[in-house]
Amino acid sequence: MPSDELYEVMRDTPSTRRFTDDEVPREVLERVLENARFAPSGGNRQGWRVIVVTDRDTRRRIRELYEPHWQTYTEQMGVRALLDAPEPPAGVTAGRLRMLQGADDFAHTFDAVPVHLVICVEMASLARVDSVLERPSIVGGASIYPFVQNILLGLRAEGLGASFTTLLTPAEPQVRELLGLPEDVALAGHISVGHRSDPWPKRLTRNPVSQFTFGERYGEPW
Ligand SMILES: Cc1cc2nc3c(=O)[nH]c(=O)nc-3n(C[C@H](O)[C@H](O)[C@H](O)COP(=O)(O)O)c2cc1C
Repeated sequence: MPSDELYEVMRDTPSTRRFTDDEVPREVLERVLENARFAPSGGNRQGWRVIVVTDRDTRRRIRELYEPHWQTYTEQMGVRALLDAPEPPAGVTAGRLRMLQGADDFAHTFDAVPVHLVICVEMASLARVDSVLERPSIVGGASIYPFVQNILLGLRAEGLGASFTTLLTPAEPQVRELLGLPEDVALAGHISVGHRSDPWPKRLTRNPVSQFTFGERYGEPW
C-alpha cells in the first residue's frame, strides 16, 4: 500500500516566493539534509556540497548577483513585457501573472529570506554518460537534482517554504570568489528557505499523465 503522506508531499510542494522573516531552526535543516542525503547519484558518488548561508551581507550579495540574470531571463522570455503591460494580456491567466509577479518580487527581495542553501557539485563526481553526443549533457545534472528535490520535499514535510532557482549559476565566477568554491566545484543552484507568508496553494498546476506518457513508441497513447 503506497504512503498517502508521501504522495501528498509530492503533489503539494510549490515554489514559495513570499516569506516571513521568522528564523529557521538549525535542527530542522539538519533533519532535512540528514534525510535528503539518501538521494541517488551516478555510481553513488554523492558529489553534492551545500553551503548554508545566513549572513546578511552574503545574502545581499547573492541577491545582487542573481538580479541581472533574472532581468535578462525575463526580457528574453517575454516575461518583462507581460509584467509591464497595463492590462493582463489576452490568453495569460491571472494565476500565471501572479506567479510571474511573485517571482519578480522575489528576485528583488530574496535576501530577506533567512536561509539560503547554495547547492554545489564536485564536477569529477558527475557521470556524464551522454557527453559523447552533440548536444548539451542532460545526464550530468541527474547526479545532483534528485538531491535537490529531496531537500525541497523534506522542507515541505517540515512545513517550510522554499524556492529553488538556477539563475544564480551564470554568476558562478563571482559566487566562487564570494563563497570560496574550489575550481573543481560547480554551482548547481540555490534554495531560499523560510516560513511562507501565504497559505499553501490548494493544488499545483501540472499536465496530466496522458500528455507526457506514451506506450511503446513516442507519441503513441499508453
Ligand atoms: C531547474 C529549475 C530552475 C528554476 N529556476 C528558477 C529561477 O531561477 N527563479 C525562480 O524564481 N524560480 C525558478 N524555478 C522554480 C519554477 O519556476 C517552479 O518550479 C515552477 O514555476 C512551478 O512552480 P509551482 O511549483 O509553484 O507550481 C526553477 C525550477 C527548476 C526545477
